[in-house]
Amino acid sequence: MSEAHASDVTRRDFLYIATGAAGAVAVGGIVWPLVSQMGPNEREKAAGAPVEIDISAVEPGMLITVIWRGKPYFVRHLTDEEVASATDAPEADFRDYASADSRISAAEGADPKWAIVGANCTHLGCVPTKIDTGLEGWICPCHGSKFDVTGRVMKGPAPTNLPLPPYSFASEEKLVIGLDKAGA
Ligand code: FES
Repeated sequence: MSEAHASDVTRRDFLYIATGAAGAVAVGGIVWPLVSQMGPNEREKAAGAPVEIDISAVEPGMLITVIWRGKPYFVRHLTDEEVASATDAPEADFRDYASADSRISAAEGADPKWAIVGANCTHLGCVPTKIDTGLEGWICPCHGSKFDVTGRVMKGPAPTNLPLPPYSFASEEKLVIGLDKAGA
């Protein structure tokens, strides 16, 4: 990772919420007590049951990482500027084009916009690092792939976008990963 990119990274809002963990631990040493995870019992979680995540404290521009079925997923609250830049970006900027709309979600009737994507690079599985400015949303520390704020790959070697998990919003403040709107 270049120094320029390292300076763009804000690690303090980069959280891991492990399935079954009682709290959240922030990389960089800041604990974020308002983010909690409530869901089925531990045995169901281990088997891959949906996880419910309190997103009420995740402000625009912030990112948390949650674990579902043993894999990390990014939950990124997009700023208005990020939504606008992703929506306006030309198709030619992307290796595996998909519309920004198809990758941005919101709870019904709510304004906040979210990108919820798998957190393993589609090249060899490293976990990309958040970039705080511009359309480029993540850079992979292993071989330099870049992804936009919705997880669309802009520069390889990653061949495809960060995948979208099944998810739904139980409310404006509750995200459920592992269960889509249709209940699948
Ligand atoms: S694992 Fe991400 S670019 Fe290779």
